[in-house]
Amino acid sequence: MSDAPIPDDRGAAPELAGRHLVLGLSGGIACYKAADFARELVKSGATVQVVMTEAALQFVTPVTMQALSGRPVHTSQWDARPAANMAHIDLSREADAIVVAPASADFIAQLAQGRAGELLSLLCLARPRGEGRAVPLLLAPAMNREMWSHPATQRNVAQAVADGALLLGPGHGAQACGETGDGRMLEAAELRDAVVAFFQPKVLAGRRVLVTAGPTFEALDPVRGITNRSSGKMGFAIARAAAEAGAAVTLVAGPVHLPTPAGVRRIDVGSALQMHDAVLPLAPAHDVFVATAAVADWRPIAMAEEKIKKDGSGRVPAFEMTENPDILAAVARLPQAQRPYCVGFAAESHDVLRHAREKRIRKAVPLIVANHGPATFGRDDNTLVLVDARGELELPRADKLSLARALVAQIAQRL
Ligand code: CTP
Repeated sequence: MSDAPIPDDRGAAPELAGRHLVLGLSGGIACYKAADFARELVKSGATVQVVMTEAALQFVTPVTMQALSGRPVHTSQWDARPAANMAHIDLSREADAIVVAPASADFIAQLAQGRAGELLSLLCLARPRGEGRAVPLLLAPAMNREMWSHPATQRNVAQAVADGALLLGPGHGAQACGETGDGRMLEAAELRDAVVAFFQPKVLAGRRVLVTAGPTFEALDPVRGITNRSSGKMGFAIARAAAEAGAAVTLVAGPVHLPTPAGVRRIDVGSALQMHDAVLPLAPAHDVFVATAAVADWRPIAMAEEKIKKDGSGRVPAFEMTENPDILAAVARLPQAQRPYCVGFAAESHDVLRHAREKRIRKAVPLIVANHGPATFGRDDNTLVLVDARGELELPRADKLSLARALVAQIAQRL
C-alpha cells in the first residue's frame, strides 16, 4: 500500500498531509472505533504507525490495524526488527504526535506513574519534550463512567495533563457496558477533527470571538415567516476555525441544521431582534465580532396570533413592515473600551466591491468580507475579498473551512 494521501471528497488538500502520527491502542472495547479512526487519519493524508498494547490485542487484531494503516503494527518492546532494537526511541522520534485512542484507565495510570512496562507506555515516556522538537501526546480516554469519575482516575488524568498530555474528550453518552455517562471515546470523525485542530496555528490563543451565523426568521403568523437562503455554513466554519486557532468562541445561530463545532458555545435564536438581544450584552466581553448572519432587514410590525386564513374573497393579506436593528452597526457603535474588533460580511448580487466599500464606511467597521451572495448560499466553497482601509485582498476559491482559516489568520494579524 502506498503512503500517498487520498484527496478528500471536496478535492481539497488533505488536512493532515505530511504529518506522521503514532496511533497507540490500549485495552478497551473502544478499540473497534480506533480502526475507523486509523482510516480517517490515513484519508486525511497522515502516515500512521500503529502501536498496540497486549490488552488492545484482545479487542482488535494487528492484521486489521496493519491493513488500515498500511504499515506493520508494533506490539512489543522486544521486537528485533527496528534498528538497534530501539522501537521506543525510533517510533517516537519520527512522529509529529502520539495519539493514544483508546487510552484506558490502566494506561493513564501507567503514564501518571511514568511506567514503561510495555512498548506504548515506554515510547510515551521516551518521547522528546524539549522546546525544539517536542512530540505532543494526545489521549482519547475510553472507559466506564464509574472508572472515569473515580478519584484515582481523575488524579491520574490530572497528573498526565500536568506532565504535558492533552485530552481529546471523553464524550458523554451510552456506553458499551449498557450504562450512560462520561467516559466514552469520541467518535472517529470527532477524533480526526480534534487532531486536525491540534495542528492549526494558535493565532487567537487567549482571545474571545463572537460570531453570528445563518438566516433569521421573521414570523408572520404561527406557521409562516420571512427568511432567506443563508445556510450558516460560512459562519459555522469561522466559529470552528477560530476555536481551532485557540479562541474561546460564542456562536449565535439563526435557524440552521448544522452541528455545533467542537468546543464552541452556541446560542440559538430565531428572529433578528432575538439575535440582536443575544449579541449586544455579549459583545463587550469579546475581542472579535464576526457578523456572518444574513439578518432579515425587515420584520412584520405585528405577528398574527393565529394562522392567517384565506377568506374566499381572493384578497391577499398586506403586511406592514418595520426595519430591524443593524446588529453589526450597533456593536461597532459601542464605546471603544467595550468594542470588539468588528468584521462584517457583504453578500451582494452585483457591484460587489463598491457595495462592500460603502458598507465598511456606513457601518464604521475596520474589515468587510465581500462575496457574491447567490454564488455562495448553501454551497461548500466560496471566494472572498477582504476590504479594509488599506485596500483589497482576495482569498481565492476554496472550501469554506479553508477560507475561514485564512480569514482567521488575517483577523489575527489585524488585532
Ligand atoms: N447585519 C447585521 N444586522 C442587520 C443587517 C446586517 O448585523 N440587521 C450585518 C450582516 O451580518 C453582515 C453585514 O451587516 O455582516 C452586512 O449585511 P448585508 O445584509 O449584506 O447588508 P445590509 O446592511 O443588510 O445592507 P443591504 O441589505 O442594503 O445590502
